[in-house]
Amino acid sequence: MRSIAILNQKGGSGKTTTSVNLASTLGEKGRRVLVVDMDPQASATDWFGIDKPGRGITDIFVDDVSLLNLVRATDVLGVAIIPASAWLLGAEKVLRWDPPSLQVFKKAKRFLPSNQWDYMLIDCPPALNLLTANALVGADYVLIPVEAHRMALPGVERVIASVETLRRNLNSKLSVLMIVPCRVDSRTRHSRDVVDELRSRYGKLVSTAEIRENIKLAEAPAHSMPITIFDGRGKGAIDYRALADEIIATEKRIIS
Ligand SMILES: Nc1ncnc2c1ncn2[C@@H]1O[C@H](COP(=O)(O)OP(=O)(O)OP(=O)(O)O)[C@@H](O)[C@H]1O
Ligand SMILES: [Mg+2]
Repeated sequence: MRSIAILNQKGGSGKTTTSVNLASTLGEKGRRVLVVDMDPQASATDWFGIDKPGRGITDIFVDDVSLLNLVRATDVLGVAIIPASAWLLGAEKVLRWDPPSLQVFKKAKRFLPSNQWDYMLIDCPPALNLLTANALVGADYVLIPVEAHRMALPGVERVIASVETLRRNLNSKLSVLMIVPCRVDSRTRHSRDVVDELRSRYGKLVSTAEIRENIKLAEAPAHSMPITIFDGRGKGAIDYRALADEIIATEKRIIS
């Protein structure tokens, strides 16, 4: 199982939209995906329409509960989720910046069956807090969704610096898998310039797939459907399928 933390400390950059729709497009392509909602806002949990999520992932931080017992099925092909809840805010307060607190998620993850899922996608909160740090200590890769807006560029630098610090001190195998331009509005010069700037700064790390601005992606959560079901032939589904193909193409690189 490849675990990928979907991270950008900047709020509203497309983390949850990418977690949910990359999960559903990977699922469509035959991959088995476990989404882990690590955000107290529980947006991914709500998006999948999980009924009575309980405390969800909070339980591993405040109790000795097995991650496997927290897994919930979804209506989406190939996709399961470990939900979040507002209880996570409380969990974060009892954690400290010490090795035991930073390794709670990593340790819990060891007890998941290794062959039940191909991917774990961790939807992180918009902060480098202890929940995000737990995700980064337990993950193999980081995927950074970036809103195609000038204000977003300094944030990318900060995420890469955070990943580097984590890699040096706590998780030597952590690396940035991909930077994904999101909310790309081809009608504006500004949006295009930001994507060009991303490509010139970060080269091959930037995905070829660009997620275009698409109202259906913004509407889908209210219907508790990923874009593959809500608007399976539209631009949003096309763009996330292209991203899923790129992620799948890196499987060979990783295995060899
Ligand atoms: N490609 C897109 N087209 C149109 N709207 C989008 C697109 N991607 C994201 N959005 C909208 O932008 C807002 C922020 O997206 P999202 O919730 O995915 O970001 P986030 O990084 O998870 O936010 P947070 O930091 O609060 O967790 C949402 O209202 C979402 O519907
Ligand atoms: Mg989010």
